[in-house]
Amino acid sequence: MNLRFLITAGPTREYIDPVRYISNASSGKMGYALANAARKKGHKVTLISGPVSIRPPFGVRTVRVVSAREMFEAFKEHLPLADIIIGAAAVSDYRPHEAKKDKMKKASRPFNLKLVPNPDILSFASRRKKKKVLVGFALETQDLLKHAREKLEKKKLDVIIANYPEVIGKNKATVWMIDKDSNIVSMPEDDKNKIAKRIIDEALETWKDNNPRKKLHR
Ligand code: CTP
Repeated sequence: MNLRFLITAGPTREYIDPVRYISNASSGKMGYALANAARKKGHKVTLISGPVSIRPPFGVRTVRVVSAREMFEAFKEHLPLADIIIGAAAVSDYRPHEAKKDKMKKASRPFNLKLVPNPDILSFASRRKKKKVLVGFALETQDLLKHAREKLEKKKLDVIIANYPEVIGKNKATVWMIDKDSNIVSMPEDDKNKIAKRIIDEALETWKDNNPRKKLHR
């Protein structure tokens, strides 16, 4: 059988006023490479993407969103039918308490911006996991493997891909892939497309373990 992949990618933007926003430097390259690799294996892929400047992969249903809340809404809609879920998006953890309708005027005094937490998209999926495979990413500046393992447990993931911020925006990456049994595969620097292919293979193997009675067509 062909499987359905649901992949999030890119950054989200959390608007402060009509022209300013909080975001991050995610390019979407890894998420797009994952979508492409899954599609090339013959699977159906839905890619939910924040604002990026790269072209959507051929043959992939791409849903464009801007904010974390929009990403969450699109994700919830596609989650029920998904077999393998990969959270490659760099979702903003917070958004401004309110987005001002008009452009804010400059003032000489400091001001405080009140932020409120955004929903955690992968954690939502883990509460509805059943036999689905959940793959997440951990981007850390310190204690990479320790924090990645903690995230894997907290978000009840099958696999987590750990990496450092140096990979952001690059075509190459160095990553560590950790599974539920704490097996660690270290992947030396390689093209993101090649790394994506290995992650997709791992996700498919995990799906077979979770669904021993079902057969993959390839
Ligand atoms: N993620 C998500 N929804 C969020 C935040 C993160 O689905 N609101 C997903 C990311 O796509 C990634 C994983 O959770 O696969 C870990 O993201 P990361 O930002 O590293 O972790 P956080 O849970 O935000 O923890 P922290 O920022 O404290 O490191």
